[in-house]
Amino acid sequence: MENVAHRRLRDWVRTMSRLCEPENVVWCDGSAAERAAIWEGLVRQGTAKPLNQKLRPGSFIVRSDPADVARVEDRTFICSANRDDAGPTNNWVAPDEMRATMQRLFAGAMRGRTMYVIPFSMGPIGSDIAHIGVQLTDSPYVVGSMHVMTRVGSRVLEQLGEDGRFVPCIHSVGSPIGDGSEDVPWPCNPNERYIVHFPETREIWSYGSGYGGNALLGKKCFALRIASVMARDEGWLAEHMLIVKVTDPAGRTRYMAGAFPSACGKTNLAMLTPTLPGWRVETIGDDICWMKFGADGRLYAINPEAGFFGVAPGTSILSNPNALRTLERNSVFTNVAETPDGDVWWEGMTDIPPERLTDWQGLPWAPGNSGPAAHPNARFTVAAHQCPVIAPEWEDPAGVPISAILFGGRRASVVPLVNEARDWTQGVYFGSIIASEKTAAAAGRVGELRRDPMAMLPFCGYNMADYWSHWLRMGTRNSAHLPRIFYVNWFRRDDRGRFLWPGFGENARVLKWIFERCDNDAGAIDAPIGRLPSPDALDLHGLKLDNDALHDLLRVDTDGWRQEIPLIREYYHSFGGRAPDALLGESLALAGRLDAAQGSAA
Ligand code: OXD
Ligand code: MN
Repeated sequence: MENVAHRRLRDWVRTMSRLCEPENVVWCDGSAAERAAIWEGLVRQGTAKPLNQKLRPGSFIVRSDPADVARVEDRTFICSANRDDAGPTNNWVAPDEMRATMQRLFAGAMRGRTMYVIPFSMGPIGSDIAHIGVQLTDSPYVVGSMHVMTRVGSRVLEQLGEDGRFVPCIHSVGSPIGDGSEDVPWPCNPNERYIVHFPETREIWSYGSGYGGNALLGKKCFALRIASVMARDEGWLAEHMLIVKVTDPAGRTRYMAGAFPSACGKTNLAMLTPTLPGWRVETIGDDICWMKFGADGRLYAINPEAGFFGVAPGTSILSNPNALRTLERNSVFTNVAETPDGDVWWEGMTDIPPERLTDWQGLPWAPGNSGPAAHPNARFTVAAHQCPVIAPEWEDPAGVPISAILFGGRRASVVPLVNEARDWTQGVYFGSIIASEKTAAAAGRVGELRRDPMAMLPFCGYNMADYWSHWLRMGTRNSAHLPRIFYVNWFRRDDRGRFLWPGFGENARVLKWIFERCDNDAGAIDAPIGRLPSPDALDLHGLKLDNDALHDLLRVDTDGWRQEIPLIREYYHSFGGRAPDALLGESLALAGRLDAAQGSAA
């Protein structure tokens, strides 16, 4: 610690170790030797088990406590000084009160454990778009995961220098050892969980959970909740978006970013294998995108992460062959099922499960058992560079110039397959009204929607209405170079509840139209809701899709939209007058255009 040049960092670590009383403090250097030692320790502790080294070299299976399996949105807090700055979509507690709670919980919280100090960079070290954090944690599983998901270690300390800016992130599983209490494979404290953000001071405090976004604080806590506040104050965008590079048969490339709520196939789209001959999709990122304006006025994006923390169930040779290839080695699988020969399995991987599985809780499992073999939120953790379709420039510190932004939700009805915004403001409107329906319930009906604006509902670190204003403000800068915005929906269903669009690799057809729209090369018709592909503009060569399905996919559902507009208005009003007038205006203008369309059809 004495040779760490950054005094503020040293002082903070000292203060926190006095508070948490760990047995010792270890500064992580990010080396391969450190990584190996961490995993050896996790195996010794019974937290991790090596998989069959012939089938999955360098890989481990981990089982969490069954009470600690997912992000806990109801225990996530945005503690801004002013309640309205957190807004109605976030849990809020006054900062002083929350600080007192944190002091009480963290006092002695790491007794009997090691406190690891993890300096990490979100984004390529030294990039103007990247930012640095330092996480303190008493979970070696978190250290092992941060090694994969971020850039960790001495190189980051060097970049910080004597006075560089960093986001302090403190994490404890909330389970001190001592006074007769034994350690367990997955320590946690499910009765007392807090995922806390102080936006003004850019701090993160997380207590009681060792799982995913609750504990890997670089991801949702920093790269989205705190970064969204930094982005608001500094004029950039921190978004819940994948980033892809699309190349056409002539070798021209375009970069696209896309926001989709959790569990809408972001990782699948990010690694898509196009069915269109000559087209290529390569991955830059699958979950988070930071964008800043470059000197040429364009928006440049980086993926701040270094790995994928993807949902395993549903990942198959059909839905995402590239993910399966990424996972062939050096991967961590948490809460999946285990095969008798020491490999992994999850629902959706194959139609028929292997025999004699061990389920995610370590119990024998056979088809017909009451629960699934893998937990529905079982995850893989793997380095991005292992992805066979990672774009060579994925770590370019300058970022990649974004030509198109996609917004999408899971809508059985109303929203067409693809729809281009006429301008940035309408695009922001599209983003603000993203919603998903309960899939089984909703075919053909409006209602029971969970709004998830820009897919940021659980991740926006401030008032969502102010966040829309920030998006609108971004559109007033460099307007000549802004990306085009599109609203897509792969999930439209027919009257019998069947998907109308095959999805997966066929989504490349929609990406092609978007690609060509960026140069005005593809035909579009002006519809009341935006610009839709003109009848022959969508490349459907080789796709079996009957005309009725195509008609439904690209139909303007005037009635459905007219029913939805009051719901949108109601949603905006739930922000108590803070929703920007420009968005209310978009809604009114849309209502007017739909009325006119209805009138002329009558
Ligand atoms: C994720 C999520 O884990 O969005 O990426 O929930
Ligand atoms: Mn996500």
